[in-house]
Amino acid sequence: MSDAAPRTVLVLGGTSDIARALLEHLADEGLERAVLASRTVPDAEPVLAGGRVRCTTVAWDALDVAAHAALFDRTAELVGRIDLVVCAVGLLGHHAGLSMGPEQVDEMVRTNFGGPAAALSVAAERLVAQGGGALVVLSSVAGVRPRRSNYVYGSTKSGLDAFARGIADAVHGTGVRVLVVRPGFVRSSMTEGLEPAPFATDPATVAAAVGRALRRGRSGVVWVPPVLGPLFAVLANVPAAMWRRIAGDR
Ligand SMILES: NC(=O)c1ccc[n+]([C@@H]2O[C@H](COP(=O)([O-])OP(=O)(O)OC[C@H]3O[C@@H](n4cnc5c(N)ncnc54)[C@H](OP(=O)(O)O)[C@@H]3O)[C@@H](O)[C@H]2O)c1
Repeated sequence: MSDAAPRTVLVLGGTSDIARALLEHLADEGLERAVLASRTVPDAEPVLAGGRVRCTTVAWDALDVAAHAALFDRTAELVGRIDLVVCAVGLLGHHAGLSMGPEQVDEMVRTNFGGPAAALSVAAERLVAQGGGALVVLSSVAGVRPRRSNYVYGSTKSGLDAFARGIADAVHGTGVRVLVVRPGFVRSSMTEGLEPAPFATDPATVAAAVGRALRRGRSGVVWVPPVLGPLFAVLANVPAAMWRRIAGDR
């Protein structure tokens, strides 16, 4: 197997709806083993893809940076070669902007950026050492142009997105590739209770787009849905007053 059709995966943020949809999708292409790194370890392992993907949950907190290397050691003990690492950690907060206090801002920055970035640096080192593999990093369209209602979340995603693209350049030529996924609004636990934004999708759609990119051996940025790429090429550059009107309070 290869990272185009991964047999083994480590998911950072193992309860993520998007990540789980991706595992279901990849089961049809030969995925056999998944290590789910999660803050809480369930009494019984989740059954994914009708049991075709054998899951093991390992306790892990993105904020516990000192424990990141041990997670990769444990994963290698469990599955051997790690074909794919998916970073799906995320904290949204419904109004992640001016209403947030300093502790909340700090928690969001460390959860969405600092912690995952530290874990991704270990991931990149381990994948290079084993001679190849793929990294899938869940960024967001919210990071392309932060808006007034959620610029804390948006800026953490900008940081992670830049970090992941930097890793992609750093590992170029090593056999490791990086996919930076920029979904728009996805109907998942994270967005429960929120009114869907235009071009809203669901976890299965994101999973299919990532699966297709992996199969094709792609690296780089994947927009979901694809129309967001050209749309945000424009929106990233409209004047601030116009952007405030377009973004509104959502
Ligand atoms: N849904 C959207 O509209 C959307 C759009 C663009 C990008 N994204 C990104 O896609 C990724 C997956 O999101 P999702 O929609 O699948 O949401 P989700 O189901 O809420 O998944 C988020 C995951 O992050 C984990 N997490 C949060 N804080 C953590 C910490 N300190 N340590 C370890 N894990 C932690 C959660 O674990 P617990 O179960 O322990 O809370 C959960 O597994 C996120 O990075 C998100 O920012 C989502």
